Amino acid sequence: MPHITVNDHEFFYRELGSDPVALFIHGFPLDSTMWLEQIQILSDSRRCIAPDLRGFGRSSPSTRSVLSMEDHADDLVAVLDALGIDTVDLVGLSMGGYVALALAEHHPERLRTLALVDTKSTEDSADAKAGRDAAAERVAAEGRSGLAADMIGVLVSDSASTWTRSRLRTMIESTHAESIVAALKGMKQRPDRTAVLSNLSIPVAVIVGEHDVLSPIAEANHMAVAAGGALTVVAGVGHMSPIEDPPSVAETLRTLWSEGSSD
Ligand code: MLT
Repeated sequence: MPHITVNDHEFFYRELGSDPVALFIHGFPLDSTMWLEQIQILSDSRRCIAPDLRGFGRSSPSTRSVLSMEDHADDLVAVLDALGIDTVDLVGLSMGGYVALALAEHHPERLRTLALVDTKSTEDSADAKAGRDAAAERVAAEGRSGLAADMIGVLVSDSASTWTRSRLRTMIESTHAESIVAALKGMKQRPDRTAVLSNLSIPVAVIVGEHDVLSPIAEANHMAVAAGGALTVVAGVGHMSPIEDPPSVAETLRTLWSEGSSD
């Protein structure tokens, strides 16, 4: 797995295919392996790059007590710069979507197209913020297995296979507890970025699992309206639509990319 050092930090990334580049940003508290199916399917038309964010997967542990969405976006731009990559088709799932929106706000010139998957542009409600604090306390006190057990039930639909569930458990239980706590704080402080979508002048697609309870269809519709982009509801799946129904998500990405300037 290739790696590169930028911003005094070592980043590992998965890569397959040839230019133009599609950059895939993973969700919380996951890693780049969540994109394996999409990379496999789409590498015939894109150089698919899926990094492990700072503190996640095989990238170095983080010493920061807060991992903000802006920090991750700046890291990704530094990675692109170091690899000599100018523009990308950007794809982000859930927390990866929050990072994608921060990147779109601060570096809009780096995006050819944007795909927002099972995510939202709104900020956390007061209840959601309190829930982040409770989750951080619990992880700090008890470690990751309780969080994994709680999350798997809401990440996927009832019909998800035991293999999919065990794969998610591996990702969550392999994530450093301190990164989980720091990312919960970072997500809690993220702003509403709906206006970023209204200001973008590139093709945008919004994808959501029919049974996504973490980023429901109403949130996806809110983003699609703001961006003037297409909304795709993936039938029968939950929050992890790229893993639960890889062909449907890949087909939507191909359609989006065909609207971008590189095809
Ligand atoms: C994710 O899947 O990245 C998380 O559910 C995002 C969140 O907690 O808001």
